[in-house]
Amino acid sequence: MKATETFDTLVSINIPKAILVGLNHTSRDEKSFEHSMDELEALAKACDLEPSMTITQTLPHPDHATFIGSGKVEELKTLINMVDADIIIFGDTLSPIQLRNLERILDTEVIDRTGLILQIFAKRARTREARMQVEYAQLQFMLPRLAGMRTELSRQGGGSGRLSNKGAGEKKLELDRRRIEQRCAELRRELENVERERDTQRAKRMNSDIPRISLVGYTNAGKSTLLNSFIDASHIEDKDNKKVMQKDMLFATLDTTVRRIELPGHRPFLLSDTVGFIDELPTTLVKAFRSTLSEAVYADLLLEVIDFSDPDYMTHIEITEKTLQDIGASKIPIIYVFNKADLVAGGSEHRSMTIPHVREDRIYMSAENGIGLDNLVTMIENTLEGEKVDCEFVIPYSDGAALHDITSRSEVSDTEYLKEGTHITLKCSKKMALKYIKYSV
Ligand code: GTP
Repeated sequence: MKATETFDTLVSINIPKAILVGLNHTSRDEKSFEHSMDELEALAKACDLEPSMTITQTLPHPDHATFIGSGKVEELKTLINMVDADIIIFGDTLSPIQLRNLERILDTEVIDRTGLILQIFAKRARTREARMQVEYAQLQFMLPRLAGMRTELSRQGGGSGRLSNKGAGEKKLELDRRRIEQRCAELRRELENVERERDTQRAKRMNSDIPRISLVGYTNAGKSTLLNSFIDASHIEDKDNKKVMQKDMLFATLDTTVRRIELPGHRPFLLSDTVGFIDELPTTLVKAFRSTLSEAVYADLLLEVIDFSDPDYMTHIEITEKTLQDIGASKIPIIYVFNKADLVAGGSEHRSMTIPHVREDRIYMSAENGIGLDNLVTMIENTLEGEKVDCEFVIPYSDGAALHDITSRSEVSDTEYLKEGTHITLKCSKKMALKYIKYSV
């Protein structure tokens, strides 16, 4: 046997095998149910699990005790032995009772969609802030489930190696409710300190008069890729170090990154990339990540990135809008960036088109290939600056800063040097005209 084969065999042995379970109990149509199961598979992979098989059932409503019907539980038990599964993943949120009953009957670890997403976040968290936010969310998620878990937890002791225990730390799982609450209070306090630091940094940025733009959207839509394309096109040094990770994986980015983008011939702006959204993003996570997500709340403009090649893109738009409402960012102007249009363009589908394609507040483009980036910049400027107006100013020689501010962001058609100051004739934004109304003639 070749060395590589041995290595591959070893690696595949170490990847826990999962069985995915889906219950179509709402009036969801078959297609959207299938998509939700595909997404569950992608989530499992993002959590370094190997989805070995998927089983589904259609019921009018979930079973109170075991979520799926008793016959299906028996079938699942047989399948677990057959594929030697390490973990069972349910596509919906399970009640603490259902979770406990299933684990008891199946004698295998059971996790639901929320638990899985929390686990992915725990694996991805890099900065101290993200780690604290995830731990807080996990403990909050665990609290209502504690009563049922209690006996089992004390029986398990440490070193059980369970996936769902790992994130918050096995030691913490042995803590009783009071100690978990204490830990939550401690985390809250520390997070408030970090939030204060973030507020100070943000206040500095807000005073700097440079527009703030936030990338938002469903996970894997291409937000980081778009940020990197802007960095590539920018006039900045050390581009490679300023880039962020772009990866074909759900929730590749958790930490917020803010970059100054300076494109030749354009006004600079600050662009932030933050955590992606997903259907039913656990509320504990939205709460815990509120300060990270707040970059979007304080933005002058949002770029909502949509994976146009995903057949479910309309649902993703709805989910993003709802999440923006939840975090209080629904009133900010939005440009809809229909990304990955290269995968649709030229195809036989009725959606196919030549890119870039701009329609009102929408752009169809490809961040990866840099197609449409120039058009997007023009849209950004038009949205931020609004309609342009003709103006004339006389700027006193003592206010060089105003002259620089105006001339660097407007189309100047004439300049004259008078006794009182510089007389300029120009086209500028309404905002700019109002800002320097005292010099207007
Ligand atoms: P999260 O961090 O999960 O929120 O993802 P994200 O929205 O930041 O997505 P990311 O930029 O990491 O891109 C996800 C995948 O889509 C990567 O594999 C990219 O290479 C790919 N991708 C991004 N933009 C395009 C595009 O315009 N065309 C194509 N074909 N692929 C793209």
